[in-house]
Amino acid sequence: MAEAALFDTYNRISLRFERGEGVWLITETGERYLDFAAGIAVNSLGHAHPHLVDALKAQADKLWHLSNLYDVPGQEKLARRLTQATFADKVFFTNSGAEALECAIKTARRYQFSKGHPERFHIITFEGAFHGRTLATIAAGGQAKYLEGFGPKVSGFDQVPFGDIDALKAAITDATAAILIEPVQGEGGLRLVSREFMRTLRQLCDEHGLLLILDEVQSGVGRTGKLFAHEWSGITPDIMAVAKGIGGGFPLGACLATEEAASGMKAGTHGTTYGGNPLAMAVGNAVLDVVLADGFLEHVRDVALVFRQGLEGLKDRYPDVIEEIRGEGLMLGIKAKVPNADLLQAMRSEHILAVPAGDNVLRLLPPLVVTADEAREGLARIERAAESLHKSGMKKSA
Ligand SMILES: Cc1ncc(COP(=O)(O)O)c(C=O)c1O
Repeated sequence: MAEAALFDTYNRISLRFERGEGVWLITETGERYLDFAAGIAVNSLGHAHPHLVDALKAQADKLWHLSNLYDVPGQEKLARRLTQATFADKVFFTNSGAEALECAIKTARRYQFSKGHPERFHIITFEGAFHGRTLATIAAGGQAKYLEGFGPKVSGFDQVPFGDIDALKAAITDATAAILIEPVQGEGGLRLVSREFMRTLRQLCDEHGLLLILDEVQSGVGRTGKLFAHEWSGITPDIMAVAKGIGGGFPLGACLATEEAASGMKAGTHGTTYGGNPLAMAVGNAVLDVVLADGFLEHVRDVALVFRQGLEGLKDRYPDVIEEIRGEGLMLGIKAKVPNADLLQAMRSEHILAVPAGDNVLRLLPPLVVTADEAREGLARIERAAESLHKSGMKKSA
């Protein structure tokens, strides 16, 4: 039953989980579910990872919150590690993905402003994008269903069809500041931006003096088998928004930028009360301890291969249920032939959780610590779900 005291913004599934262990979620009544939703790509190290639990408890005993009026040693450490591991020179910490995007958008606009071009504030985005639920990020995402009824759309976001180079080139004007893209569209249906397209984006940005902003909120922190998804294409952005997996379940986001791109963000131009708070920094550093350890990303790629091959096999065996397998690493999607909600429900009956996405896709986002055996267990459950839909489809058509 929906709780009347809560906003009605979610159609919640009535499952009541009490605790988690690795890739498993356990209900109040002791039923175990294989969690291949991972809080929508958030629980990167699964549930109750001992290293994360220890880090949070140790910090909780010392200091919870300081504000950004003082030095925060955990921030300095995490920023240093993030910049050492990426293209970036500078980091601003936030509490969420949308705030990381807000910082990215402001950083790009401010860059053009500080170079004497206040008129260059437009940002080009792509159809099917999802960048968050704040007023600026719903404008960036451009999806009517999220914009409706919330007053005038924040101006300065120009959208072009996904993958359409000609439309992109035509959209670049003297007022353009930046291009913003997810290397893999998550909510848009696990649509992968090709490596060639990523390189073209970089080239166009360089030619026109634009900044390239990547939204790696969902695709980052090892999810695709590289630390960040753009690494597959060999290019680097100027600005990048990160969240979800970096906190492993603790609210944490970050906006990363090159020194040049961040050059307009002087003291007083931006701020946050909670962003970079010591608790979040303790967890973020603990996540990096694991993700940056030798062999971790290799593990992600190895398990992803097992999982993907298994899913491709299911597609071949159940072509009436599964149309296509999409994505990269452990950011995978099943494009369904049946309504994706039916597949999701059939999977839930087999006690495996996934996340719906656009384009009739189901997202499979297991914790990155998933083992090959757990991936096979997941495949067996998805197979049973596909089999039940296949059988009920046969009955209907009989
Ligand atoms: C690609 C992408 N960008 C931004 C966001 C917004 O993040 P948050 O919900 O933490 O504000 C999300 C969340 O699903 C996302 O997937």
